[in-house]
Amino acid sequence: MDDQVPASSDVDLSRPSIARVYDYLLGGKEHLDVDRRAANALLNVVPEAAEIAKDNRSFLRRGVEYLVGEAGIRQIVDVGSGLPSAGNVHEVAHAVDPGTRIAYVDNDPVVLAHARALLATDERTTVVTADLRKPDSIFDQLGANDLIDLDEPVAVLLSGVLHHLSDDDDPAAVVATVRDRLAAGSHLLITHFLFDDESRAFALERAFLHGGLGSGRFRSWDELRSYFGGWELVEPGLVYANDWRPDEHTRVDGPVHTLYAGGVARKA
Ligand SMILES: C[S@@+](CC[C@H](N)C(=O)[O-])C[C@H]1O[C@@H](n2cnc3c(N)ncnc32)[C@H](O)[C@@H]1O
Repeated sequence: MDDQVPASSDVDLSRPSIARVYDYLLGGKEHLDVDRRAANALLNVVPEAAEIAKDNRSFLRRGVEYLVGEAGIRQIVDVGSGLPSAGNVHEVAHAVDPGTRIAYVDNDPVVLAHARALLATDERTTVVTADLRKPDSIFDQLGANDLIDLDEPVAVLLSGVLHHLSDDDDPAAVVATVRDRLAAGSHLLITHFLFDDESRAFALERAFLHGGLGSGRFRSWDELRSYFGGWELVEPGLVYANDWRPDEHTRVDGPVHTLYAGGVARKA
């Protein structure tokens, strides 16, 4: 990573960034020493930890293909969108329907700089810097921009981001606000670290919280289910991520299968 880092006082390059650590785990190029050290703190306790990132990307692709290809969604708000990677949400969505409109939202200014560069000429896609912990600020910014019509169904993607909210951030209240702001027919996609009574989840959570990143909670099935607020879960429901509508590219015997869960639900 080099000249693409924005010259901004918002960017503290002495600290690891969630987006860059994730990029490193996915085999990307946008990371610094400090990010690699934080990633290695994870890999030291669970050597297969990078596979969680790959399973997450795979779920995200299948989820977007379902939302646009089967659920009829034409507007997507991807919160905690991360750095551009193989199979970006707009690419997956546009392969199914080129008219799909997408808003990428992240609180990391480095993500914003990369996304702006990638999307400079794409009129169906926008980028917003906002913090999920202040969900109304996301919708207020979207409302001020003509791309996403909040009176029509929207799919909100919370892929790999809610576990970076601490318990003090009150993720349940945050997601409730998101659900309330959406029109009937909207969908919510969530993927999240799972605590399913496994010692590896304990060890990894400790490495996330104390190995440099400072965030990364592993939560229970019940906590994850509560984030959907009673919306109707699309089949097969909230499940291990690789069990959600697997296709020929989905791993059936992944080494971290039980550490990650996901689901998609629809607002009646
Ligand atoms: C693990 S990456 C997931 C990227 C992408 N959604 C995916 O599933 O491949 C998490 C992203 O969430 C962003 N993030 C973390 N906390 C956030 C917050 N409070 N508000 C907005 N974005 C946040 C990070 O900057 C990072 O880009």
